[in-house]
Amino acid sequence: MDAQLSLTVDGTVHSLTVDTRTTLLDALRERLGVISPKKGCDHGQCGSCTVLLDGRRHLTCLALAVAYDGAEIVTADGLAADGLHPVQQAFLDQDGYQCGYCTPGQVCSAVGMLDELKEGHPSHVTEDLVGEIEPSEVEVRERMSGNLCRCGAYPGILAAVCEAARG
Ligand code: FES
Ligand code: FES
Repeated sequence: MDAQLSLTVDGTVHSLTVDTRTTLLDALRERLGVISPKKGCDHGQCGSCTVLLDGRRHLTCLALAVAYDGAEIVTADGLAADGLHPVQQAFLDQDGYQCGYCTPGQVCSAVGMLDELKEGHPSHVTEDLVGEIEPSEVEVRERMSGNLCRCGAYPGILAAVCEAARG
């Protein structure tokens, strides 16, 4: 069964018809040619497919595209539309990558996570929040734990996210 939907991706509106079993990741990559979000595990376990979906970090490999009609999606490519986003610059500064396959997901996740920090979302590390949370290394590790890096570039990724968090 097919369904029609509209997605705004990095500022461009797309109308498309998809099989209702199509994931958001496949709709982006295979149908729209948006290849910044990567397919790593395809099982919701690695974070490489992360985008910002209506302002929140979101995995796309387990999301059915048809459920997101009208959504606004920003990918790592979109974050760089007007020059590198501060998080992307921090990844460059701190050598936060090796092969780069996980990097777009790491960047989108970090941008979403820093917004969550500002909004005072709790984490396993800091459950009872009062006011602004210190973006400590242990806090960043916990909040970025959904994004895996097969190259093991974690020291640089951690340094980059902490640098971006400090502004
Ligand atoms: S490809 Fe989506 S979490 Fe791994
Ligand atoms: S930089 Fe290669 S998987 Fe992370």
